[in-house]
Amino acid sequence: MPLNIAEIRAETPGVKHVNHLLACGSALQPQPVIDAIVAHLELEGRMGGYEAANAQADALDAVYRDVATLVGAKPSEIALLENATAAWCQIFYAMPFQRGDRVLTCEAEYSSNYLALMQRVKRDGIVIDVVPSDASGSLDLAALESMITPRTALIAVTWVPTNGGLVNPAAEIGKIANRHNIPYLLDACQAVGQMPVDVAAIGCDFLSATGRKFLRGPRGTGFLYIRRSLIATIEPPMVDLFAAQRVSDTEYTLRPDARRFENWENAYALRLGLGVATRYALDIGLPEIQSRAWGLADELRAGLRGLKGAKVRDIGENPSAIVSFTIDGLDPVKTAAKLYAQGIAIGTSSPASTPIDAERRALPTVLRAAPHYYNTSEEIAQLLNALEAAIP
Ligand SMILES: Cc1ncc(COP(=O)(O)O)c(C=O)c1O
Repeated sequence: MPLNIAEIRAETPGVKHVNHLLACGSALQPQPVIDAIVAHLELEGRMGGYEAANAQADALDAVYRDVATLVGAKPSEIALLENATAAWCQIFYAMPFQRGDRVLTCEAEYSSNYLALMQRVKRDGIVIDVVPSDASGSLDLAALESMITPRTALIAVTWVPTNGGLVNPAAEIGKIANRHNIPYLLDACQAVGQMPVDVAAIGCDFLSATGRKFLRGPRGTGFLYIRRSLIATIEPPMVDLFAAQRVSDTEYTLRPDARRFENWENAYALRLGLGVATRYALDIGLPEIQSRAWGLADELRAGLRGLKGAKVRDIGENPSAIVSFTIDGLDPVKTAAKLYAQGIAIGTSSPASTPIDAERRALPTVLRAAPHYYNTSEEIAQLLNALEAAIP
């Protein structure tokens, strides 16, 4: 079914105020998401925080079901956390590495993940192996397989990086990981909400994501998926009285579900907002969302190719809704600020956000735009016109 863009925009209050083309940063929330958050805050104000959570217990429980549906998992395989980094780190720091164990990662790996890898090199003596990219710029699958050693203890890759349109072959990586029986941690932060995600089809053991980007949820939300059969085998890096129960002076038992990676206190209003954002995306349809957002991104790339001095910096064969580019003579940070003053929100991505890829391609800070399905061709044209006018 074609998307009803008029209806979708009527339910997106932000579109009246800004031409927002930065879903890869933090997308515009739909009104029902905002309403759910505000309603719960008001309920807390009227009833008290604990009492409001009790009153909304069913709705809060349903958030796990909705997030699980979004990624093709079971509710017991989902932990709700405050962002994608917290989700990724909860599982990464739980990995019981031995000195000399190796972790395979990709050139497009997100900087925070890479910093965590570096910390465990320093602290635990692990070794990082960066899989090179193929001619198209995506992770080289043959190289990945050839780099696996008996000491490879984890494959940790980013599906869709923060700095451009690349889409790494997540499911093909999963096949290799499963064939060699190596745990597979997928950073799906930029994928969730812009395209269908199915953990079974991907074959990942762990998946981390955020709420505020393409999923259109509130800031301060994220989640972690953990394959059911592995939950009981992994001790979280921190435990509290929610994750564990004291049995004796020396013994405790951990929760049997993925929530052993959570802790007790949480932003329930935001969780409800995340649940509404998830259902909203599911109701619209992820294939439809992907097709529209990627189509608008292609329009933008085509327009950029016609601008003097513009270079589209995206790599990979079938790029996502994240468009990265530079324009000769234009400072990216100043350009983004100038555009915002004209009511157009795009962003920048510095080499520090994706260090291996940026170094390999000698990337400067790039301009970054990410249309979502609620954007229009007119908004893309407005951005292109504003850029053209800014070119010296
Ligand atoms: C690919 C990727 N992974 C992880 C993150 C971190 O997400 P969060 O800020 O929700 O922790 C980002 C944020 O931009 C990202 O783009």
